[in-house]
Amino acid sequence: MKEYGHFDDAQREYVITDPATPWPWINYLGTEDFFSLISNTAGGYCFCKDAKFRRILRYRYNGVPMDDGGRYYYIKDGDTVWNPGWKPCKTQLDAYECRHGMGYTRVTGEKDGLRADVLFFVPIGHRCEVHRVKLTNTGKTRKSFQLYSFLEWCLWNASTDMENFQRNLSTGEVEIDGNVLYHKTEYRERRDHYAFFGVNRPFDGFDTDRETFIGLYNGFDAPQQVLAGTSGNSVAHGWSPVASHRFDITLEPGASEELIFVLGYVENALEEKFVSKGVINKAKAQKMMEAFATPEQADAAFGRLRAFWDDLLGRFNVQSDVPELDRTVNIWNQYQCMITFFFSRSASYFESGIGRGMGFRDSNQDLAGIVHLIPERARQRILDIAATQFPDGGCYHQYQPLTKRGNNDIGGGFNDDPLWLIFGTVAYIRETGDFGILEEPVPFDNKPGTEVSLLEHLKISFAHVTENLGPHGLPLIGRADWNDCLNLNCFSDNPDESFQTTENKTEGSKAESLMIAGLFVAEGKDFAELLERIGKDAAHVRKVVADMEEAVKKYGWDGQWFLRAYDYYGNKIGSHDCEEGKVFIESQGWCTMARIGADEGLCDKALDSAVKYLECEHGLVLNTPAYTTYIKDYGEISSYPEGYKENAGIFCHNNPWVIIGEAMAGRADDAWRHYRKITPAFTKDQALRKVEPYVFCQMVAGKDAEKPGEGKNSWLTGTAAWTWKAVSEALLGIKPQFDGLLVEPCIPIGTYRIHRRFRDAEYDLTIRQTGKGGSYFIPYKPGSQVIEIEL
Ligand code: BGC
Ligand code: NOJ
Repeated sequence: MKEYGHFDDAQREYVITDPATPWPWINYLGTEDFFSLISNTAGGYCFCKDAKFRRILRYRYNGVPMDDGGRYYYIKDGDTVWNPGWKPCKTQLDAYECRHGMGYTRVTGEKDGLRADVLFFVPIGHRCEVHRVKLTNTGKTRKSFQLYSFLEWCLWNASTDMENFQRNLSTGEVEIDGNVLYHKTEYRERRDHYAFFGVNRPFDGFDTDRETFIGLYNGFDAPQQVLAGTSGNSVAHGWSPVASHRFDITLEPGASEELIFVLGYVENALEEKFVSKGVINKAKAQKMMEAFATPEQADAAFGRLRAFWDDLLGRFNVQSDVPELDRTVNIWNQYQCMITFFFSRSASYFESGIGRGMGFRDSNQDLAGIVHLIPERARQRILDIAATQFPDGGCYHQYQPLTKRGNNDIGGGFNDDPLWLIFGTVAYIRETGDFGILEEPVPFDNKPGTEVSLLEHLKISFAHVTENLGPHGLPLIGRADWNDCLNLNCFSDNPDESFQTTENKTEGSKAESLMIAGLFVAEGKDFAELLERIGKDAAHVRKVVADMEEAVKKYGWDGQWFLRAYDYYGNKIGSHDCEEGKVFIESQGWCTMARIGADEGLCDKALDSAVKYLECEHGLVLNTPAYTTYIKDYGEISSYPEGYKENAGIFCHNNPWVIIGEAMAGRADDAWRHYRKITPAFTKDQALRKVEPYVFCQMVAGKDAEKPGEGKNSWLTGTAAWTWKAVSEALLGIKPQFDGLLVEPCIPIGTYRIHRRFRDAEYDLTIRQTGKGGSYFIPYKPGSQVIEIEL
C-alpha cells in the first residue's frame, strides 16, 4: 500500500516523504494567541486571536489547485524555478521531506545541488511566525541563484476579504522600511494593529503589489518577477498587497547561508499609532525583528518551544508493547487535544475560520483532553463558558472568542448544552482538586451585577433538564441534542433556511432525547458525588437521577437496544419499528456509560447490538440503516447521503462513548477493537483514509458510503478529547478522582508502564494484569512514587 510518510517517535514528528499527499496534511503553530495552519507544502495562513477578524494571510478554501496560498519561498537557479515544499511550482525535486512536529514544521527540498531547509515555528512570547531558511550548496560547483520570499496579506476580516471587492480593492496600504515590509490596511482608521514581514539582512529587491509580482493572468506557480529573476520594487496602493523579498546569493560548494524571516503582528495603543502623519509606529515590530536577528536567537526560541512541549507531553506517558498505542497516547492524541482546545472548531482545512464561534458543548468537552496539561487555562475557559449561560440554565450555543459574548445568530435551545458545563467542571476538579472554582462569581449572559457562584450555575444547568421534561419523563430535545442534525422541531422545506438556526415548532412538541437522558444520569451521578464531597446535600439530585433511570428503562428501551428519541409527535426514533434509522449510537454510548439497567442486562444487550448493527470495518456508524430520503420531521440528519456525517457516517466523536461503555461493562476485547479501528496510527491504507494519518478526524465514511474508510474533518473535533478520555481512563485505566487516582484498566495488554503527573505528584506505575481484575486506589499525596500494581 502506498505510504506518504511515517512516524519518527523519538523526535515526536510525522515525516512526509511525498509532497503529493492525498489531501493537504497540515500542522498547527502557536501556543498563545498567534496561530498558524501550515500544510506539508507550506500552504495555509495565520491569524491573531480570532481567525475571522484578525486574519493575517489570505487563503482561498477549496481552491483549484487545492491548497494554494501560504508562505512560499521560490528559488530561481538558472532556468529552473522551484520551491522547497514543492508547491506552488511543483517542479520535480531531487529530495523532499516535511516534518510536522510539536508546534513547528520543517520543510526541506533539494534540487540540482542546492538544498533549502525551512523551519517554521511560532515562538513563545511573540506574535509572529519565524521562518528559518537555510540554503546549502550540496554540489561540486559554485552556485549563483535567487531566493524570493512571498506571501499575500488578508485585509483582516477573512469574511469581507472574500466578498466586498468594491471596497477592498481600494483600501490596501503598505510601508517599506529597512528590511521590513509592512501591511497597514485600515490602520489609518479604526484598527490598532498591523502586520509585517521582515528579514535579518538587506534584500536586493522587493514587491508589495500582487499584480506586479505575479502578473495578472499568472498563478502562484509562475510569478513573472521570479521567472525574469527581477523584482518590481512595487509599492501597493489598493488592489492586493503582498510581501516579497529577493536575494541574489552565491554559494561555494559545501557552503551554507541562513536567513531568518519574521512574519509578525503588532498592536499599538491609540495615542501611539503613528510617529508622524501617516507613518506607522514600528517600534514593536523592530523589537520583534531584533529578537530574531541571529541564528543563535532563533535557536534559543526554538529550544524554548521544544521545552514547552517536552514539559507538557512529559505528564502522561505509557510504555507498552504496542507502538501505535504509545505514539497515539504519548504524542499525537495529546497534541491534538491542545490544538482542539486552542482552536475549538474555528480554523482547519474543513472549517473556514469565519463560520463558527466557540461551541458551548464543544468547548466543555475539549476540556477533558487538556485539564491534565494546562489546568490554569482550563479554569479560565470554564468561567468564560459559564458566563454565557442564561438565568434559566439554558445557554448560547456558541460564543465569540474575541468578545467572549454569546452569539445571537445561533442563540440557544440545544438542551444538552447545560449538562456539559457539569461535565467540564467535574473533569477539571477531579484533575486539579481545585474545589475553589465552585465559589467563583460568574455572571449570566456576561451582564455585570448578575453574578452567582459557579456552583449555582451547575445547579441550574442540572435543573434545566428536570424543568424541561417531555411526556415520558425524558428530556425534551429542544433544537437538537449532541447530534446537531437530529432537528426534531425544525420541519424545514425551504432550502434557504439553516437547519442549525431554524426552529419552526416547539410549542406542544413531544420530542425527547435518550442521549440527553443518558448524559443526565451519568453527569447527575458525578454531580451528586461532587456535592457530597463538598458537604452539600445531594439527595434531590440522586432522586431525580433515579427517576430518569426508571423513565429510560420504561420508555427508552427497545428490547435489544436503547431508543434514540421520540419525535415531535411522540413517535419512536431508533427502534426496530422504524424502517430506517433503527439503531443509533449516541444512546447506546450514553446509557451504557450511565450504566442504566446494567443489573437487568440492558447495557450488555445494548453493547451487543452496537457490535451487531453499527460496527463495520472502520468503526461504528452513527445509525443504521442510513436514511435514504429527506425526512422533514428529522431535519439535517436525513439531508446527508448515506454513510456520510450524521447519516450513518462513522462519527469518531461518539465511538469512544461505546468504548467507555464497553470498558465499564468489562468487555476489554470489544473496547480495544473499537478503539483501534478509529485510531489513525493503526490505519493501514493512507490513500483511502486521505486525511492526516497522525490525527483523528471527525468522520470516516461509513459502510453505506461509496468509499467506506475515507476520512474527513481532521483535527478540530471532540474526538480528540473523547479518545483521550477513552484511552487514558477507560482502557489504560488511570481515572482521576476528587482525592486521588483510581487505577482500573480494561485493555487486553498484560503489562505496561505509566508515568503520570497528577497535581504535585509524579507516579511511575507498572501495571500487571494477571486476570484477577479489580481496581487500585492511589490517594493523592505530593511527591514521587513508584508503584507496582497487579490486577
Ligand atoms: C454538521 C454538524 C455540525 C453542525 C453545526 C452540521 O452541518 O453536520 O456536524 O455540528 O453543522 O455546525
Ligand atoms: C460537530 C459539532 O461541533 C458538535 O457540537 C456536534 O455535537 C457534532 N457535530 C454532532 O452533530
